Amino acid sequence: MILAIETSCDDTCAAVVTNAGEVRSNAIASQGLLHERYGGVVPEIASRRHLELIDAITSDALEGAGASLDDVSTVAVTRGPGLIGALLVGLSSAKALAAARGLPLVPVDHLHGHVVASTLWPNPIEPPYLCLVASGGHTFVARVDDPRSYTILGETLDDAAGEAFDKGARLLGLGYPGGPAIDRLARDGDPEAFDFPRSLPAGHSAAGLDFSFSGLKTSLLYRVRDLGEEETDRRRADLAASYQTAIAASLIARLGQAIGQEGVRNVALGGGVAANSLLRASAEELCRDLGVRLWTPPLDLCTDNAAMIAAAARFTEPLRYPDYLDLDAAARLR
Ligand code: KG4
Ligand code: ZN
Repeated sequence: MILAIETSCDDTCAAVVTNAGEVRSNAIASQGLLHERYGGVVPEIASRRHLELIDAITSDALEGAGASLDDVSTVAVTRGPGLIGALLVGLSSAKALAAARGLPLVPVDHLHGHVVASTLWPNPIEPPYLCLVASGGHTFVARVDDPRSYTILGETLDDAAGEAFDKGARLLGLGYPGGPAIDRLARDGDPEAFDFPRSLPAGHSAAGLDFSFSGLKTSLLYRVRDLGEEETDRRRADLAASYQTAIAASLIARLGQAIGQEGVRNVALGGGVAANSLLRASAEELCRDLGVRLWTPPLDLCTDNAAMIAAAARFTEPLRYPDYLDLDAAARLR
């Protein structure tokens, strides 16, 4: 069994997954409420909280799997990208666990985790497939021919889709994280009440597979200013619904384009924004229309979690003890 640890941002996560890809446990302690009052993740607070929680979450994961350290054959951990202090807590803890037991350690690319989350049981996707990953820090479409790696076909030129949700929610006076808040509020709003831009900034080719969300966010800022406080308050649900529709439409347009271009029949979603109800429904509709199969992971495998880190560890070269002791975390991997 693989014991995986993930602490790249504000969720302290540990999971136990079999080498075949069966998730035995997937423990997550979300720090969302802790950061809410600051309107976003405060790196120093995140690191300290990881430090307080990591041992308990690791024990939870083992207990939830009905396993002990004796059952663990490999320790996997997110090496990056992410907040460096936060990553270091998970990496140090994983090294200590692995070294104490003389086990191999697998350093995992967090984004590889999002890309291969849908290779887990009970319904693993088969390559070749395309994966749309939309999270708080990244947004891209990747092609996977072999789950050991992935090729990015197009990515965001500015903000990530999750960042657009979080910044939009802030402008609308909603809490952090903004994605779930907008998702909830949008159910009561009119998605066509406001027109938000869905195109790339001038000078960028619409034929490529890149994304852009910064114009959208600026457009919401101006709209909120024009409406004034009282009217914004009254139309909050319409603003949320229209804004969410623009983000989902941009993502779906690129995904459709990628499917047409690559001729691949299997498609997956990944990343926190893949938990969005409109995006999931729109992706289902798109894939039905194009006659391709879609994998939408369960919500707890979309947002940050350690099961996806174990999933990627199955396709990553392990380091033997003691070769990993001087391994460093990396805020960026590319
Ligand atoms: O993948 P993730 O948990 O962390 C990163 O690797 O960034 O993604 C977090 C992002 C946040 O921006 C959050 O607002 C967004 O995912 N998110 C959502 C939803 N749930 C989480 N966005 C839209 N709708 C949701 N239901
Ligand atoms: Zn993530």
